[in-house]
Amino acid sequence: MNSTVSTPIAFDYPQQDASGLTCTAQAWAKVPAPLTDVQKQSVLARIRSELIARKAVLIAHYYVDGAIQDLALETGGFVADSLEMARFGKNHPAQTLIVAGVRFMGETAKILSPEKTVLMPDLEATCSLDLGCPADQFALFRSLHPDRVVVVYANTSAAVKAQADWMVTSSCALAIVHQLHQQGKKILWAPDRHLGSYIQEQTGADMLLWNGACIVHDEFKGVELELLRAQHPQAVVLVHPESPSSVVAQADVVGSTSAMIKAVVDGNAAEYIVATDQGILHRMRQLAPGKHLIAAPTAGQSATCKSCANCPWMAMNGLQGILQCLEQGSGEIDVPEPTRSNALICIERMLDFTEHHPELLAKAQHGFVKNIGAA
Ligand code: 13P
Ligand code: SF4
Repeated sequence: MNSTVSTPIAFDYPQQDASGLTCTAQAWAKVPAPLTDVQKQSVLARIRSELIARKAVLIAHYYVDGAIQDLALETGGFVADSLEMARFGKNHPAQTLIVAGVRFMGETAKILSPEKTVLMPDLEATCSLDLGCPADQFALFRSLHPDRVVVVYANTSAAVKAQADWMVTSSCALAIVHQLHQQGKKILWAPDRHLGSYIQEQTGADMLLWNGACIVHDEFKGVELELLRAQHPQAVVLVHPESPSSVVAQADVVGSTSAMIKAVVDGNAAEYIVATDQGILHRMRQLAPGKHLIAAPTAGQSATCKSCANCPWMAMNGLQGILQCLEQGSGEIDVPEPTRSNALICIERMLDFTEHHPELLAKAQHGFVKNIGAA
């Protein structure tokens, strides 16, 4: 079976240096070679028995291929957002974690569980936010603003997390920054500029923002979304906060991937417009089979449509890669010391906050300012 990859695909992503100057850099993603049905069944069978033999557990993000999500659930693993993936990997007794997602997710698992073996189907599966925030430039930037509490998004390298006071994911970012603001703290935020501006508007916090972006969510278009909403006036609009403000402003619910799924499952509406990676539709359809799900527009007159709502790096996760992890021990994540121990501090702070302040998380889920995607 050919497990090699097809032609690499180039993507532009924004990058900033310490002085605040931005440029556009290029990155690469690749696509696993497709499998025939017969090959797929054979690979699935081998993965199932290897997971048992190695006492390993598969943890997948909602954006990876539906077959991988199904396999994770069927074999006692987990499919979740980045916060829940981190917590599940830490608490699960398995000695080997197979993380199907992007590199920062594998690194977070390893930082939290250094005694476990953490394997990923493709170690080159990265994220434009991680790439757009190089650790050395971030260190310089941070040193220019020593009076600010450093809050970084999960979508960063271990070396950036090692410099932070707090790590946050989209499910808890609003609540944590709100709390810091209440305590009178000024924030240095990195790297996602859209999530940063949304939190700034919602909390009124003094936030200095790094200029990074997710190439997938950056492509959603406010004007085309307005037109789509006019065609579906009853539809509930769900938006991931990595999207531009013109899109977030039209949301009924702004939230993490898990929050978006919960909104569809719990909602009374028949129609939902979904502004995030289309991989999420697989789980939404399973959990809310009767609901009509409409992909938010990336195409249209104002679009460049580079990504079309499919993360090129999440797409690098293939069944063949998972099998290679299990049979050959490939794709092992290593986070050297002292980076690991330093990065652990900000992650544990977040896990502790989310465990002990469910009421603050619930309050933040409904937003603090009305009519900016008030959930
Ligand atoms: P979630 O934490 O909402 O799963 O988001 C992760 C991510 O990479 C979104 O693009
Ligand atoms: Fe990164 Fe965007 Fe892909 Fe999420 S969807 S992993 S933020 S590039």
